[in-house]
Amino acid sequence: MTLEGKVKVSLRLLKNLGSLTGVAKLTRMHNALSVAVGLEKIGVIEFLEEPKSLKEVADFIGDVKRLDLLEAMFEALVEEKVLKKVDGRYTVNVSQLEKLKAMRRTNPYFKEYEVFTAGFEGVMNEVMIDVLRGRDFDFVSPEVATILYFQTSSKIYALGRELLLELGGGKGLKGKKILDLGCGFGTEPITILKYLDFDCHLICADFFPNVVDECMHTTIEINGQTKILKDLDNVEFVVLDPMMKKLFPIPDDYVDAVFSFGLLHWSSHPKEIIKECSRVLKSKGIFMTVTQVKRDEETHLTMGDVLLKIIGGNRYYTKSEIKGFLTEAGLTDPTIFLSYMITARKT
Ligand SMILES: C[S@@+](CC[C@H](N)C(=O)[O-])C[C@H]1O[C@@H](n2cnc3c(N)ncnc32)[C@H](O)[C@@H]1O
Repeated sequence: MTLEGKVKVSLRLLKNLGSLTGVAKLTRMHNALSVAVGLEKIGVIEFLEEPKSLKEVADFIGDVKRLDLLEAMFEALVEEKVLKKVDGRYTVNVSQLEKLKAMRRTNPYFKEYEVFTAGFEGVMNEVMIDVLRGRDFDFVSPEVATILYFQTSSKIYALGRELLLELGGGKGLKGKKILDLGCGFGTEPITILKYLDFDCHLICADFFPNVVDECMHTTIEINGQTKILKDLDNVEFVVLDPMMKKLFPIPDDYVDAVFSFGLLHWSSHPKEIIKECSRVLKSKGIFMTVTQVKRDEETHLTMGDVLLKIIGGNRYYTKSEIKGFLTEAGLTDPTIFLSYMITARKT
């Protein structure tokens, strides 16, 4: 993609957000608000009007088994200034919390993700408590999936997917064999197909049978006809092993491109996933992915990591970790754009 093209698409992305403030900063602030709203709902914010130790908070919530995660959550909230820490005890920073609540009403980015914040007012505060009490959740649990569903219609996600395609070769991907890894519920394959005027062979892959099933049955308009993705000759589907004990059911050197949007931070096996991507890519094939890239000094769990863990994901990775995964998998020429978009090539 030319520099001019990059600037154009990024400006569109930023304009869409209604703000030139860094996307990563807004994301952190919004994540902090969501978690705080969840904590408020279960009475913890009121409890923190007076300084409390972590142990007192854990006792208040009751039956907490993940003290490590509670501590990471509180430290991240301190980093985002929603909580203050004085002499090892935590208390709420009312003015910062009020500021974030005001942004919820006025800031376009916060509005775009309102479903998320509202989710923490509803069922997600229960999920949060269950996770702290040691229960496992994942992306496809009904509680989590319902709020993440907004990604299928989000304008920011739509622009992001288009930008990633442009970074990975743009219309030059026409006629190619593409693995859509972590294809989700169907919006993403449709974006790729339309972007390439249906001129590609698409392998839609995800780690959960119900996600792939829903993707298969997603409808698409072609020449005035409504079809389901499963009935298109140039689209196929595979279900992958989330534990990464089994290889992808795809031959070596098979695809020209791997497109993977918003997946790696969910899995506890990012290294193995990238290695598999490299194996199935042809020589000179392109790997493109979107995941938030942390600064190298951000080795601790950030607000984003905490939020992701609460809803069953893994964590975000630092720039060095990402570069390490790529190099180890035999992928070269890594580029990281806007701290989210990553491309690399197989030699
Ligand atoms: C946020 S969705 C993104 C879906 C799609 N790429 C999009 O942008 O609409 C996250 C993806 O990660 C997958 N995922 C969630 N948890 C996972 C896990 N533990 N291991 C592997 N994949 C996981 C989901 O099935 C889904 O495809």
